[in-house]
Amino acid sequence: MTEFEEVLRTRKSVHDYNDEPLDDETLEEIFNRAALAPSGYNLQPWEFLVLRDDENKQALREVAYDQEHVTDAAAAVVVLGNKDPAAHAEPVMQSWLDDGHIPNEDVRDALLENIEGMAEMPEQERRVWTTRSTALAAMTLMFAAWDEGVATCPMEGFDAEGVVETFDVPEGYEPVMLITMGYPADGAAAIENGRKERRPADEIIHYEEFDPVGETTFGE
Ligand SMILES: Cc1cc2nc3c(=O)[nH]c(=O)nc-3n(C[C@H](O)[C@H](O)[C@H](O)COP(=O)(O)O)c2cc1C
Repeated sequence: MTEFEEVLRTRKSVHDYNDEPLDDETLEEIFNRAALAPSGYNLQPWEFLVLRDDENKQALREVAYDQEHVTDAAAAVVVLGNKDPAAHAEPVMQSWLDDGHIPNEDVRDALLENIEGMAEMPEQERRVWTTRSTALAAMTLMFAAWDEGVATCPMEGFDAEGVVETFDVPEGYEPVMLITMGYPADGAAAIENGRKERRPADEIIHYEEFDPVGETTFGE
């Protein structure tokens, strides 16, 4: 098994954490790796609100349906997506030009114009836009963390409006997901039965035309 496959196969959503804190250095290492995730036009719309203070984690738990692991984990992270595609467009497109990824200023300006156009999309489309890339960063974060021995749990069980209000999140950001992070309690990261139950490849792949199967063989 490659090391990557091992990370894939042994990462699991962990609810029980020990008391070991997560220091800035470890977090920065993990977040720098998470930021290697791909994004549309490399616009990197993700931001991460990292909560380690008990009071803040408790406040988050109150808008996360009282899920205990929010306060048990060393850190609870609010994964935010910037809904403005143009937010970082200028430096990113300039770097494409400087790196020779695009041939000249005209192409840079045309790309910038295109991105400005995307920024005019209706709110609902911009929410989808930011969620695509931001969710990839969230997944990358979870793999990067586990590679460092830091367990995680992604969470959609939260009240987005409550998160926005509690933490004064500015209007242009979508709370995409919560992620708890911490060192796992003894046995909490064990993969039961040595495997993870998933729908098999022959059920989820559709070659050439999409013909959804009505029934699943999951668990058989
Ligand atoms: C988008 C998303 C939302 C989730 N929401 C929650 C949640 O609110 N609370 C929770 O305890 N786990 C949550 N999970 C964890 C899933 O239950 C878990 O990923 C799934 O059962 C597969 O298990 P594994 O992550 O251990 O492989 C969520 C996972 C994803 C991807």
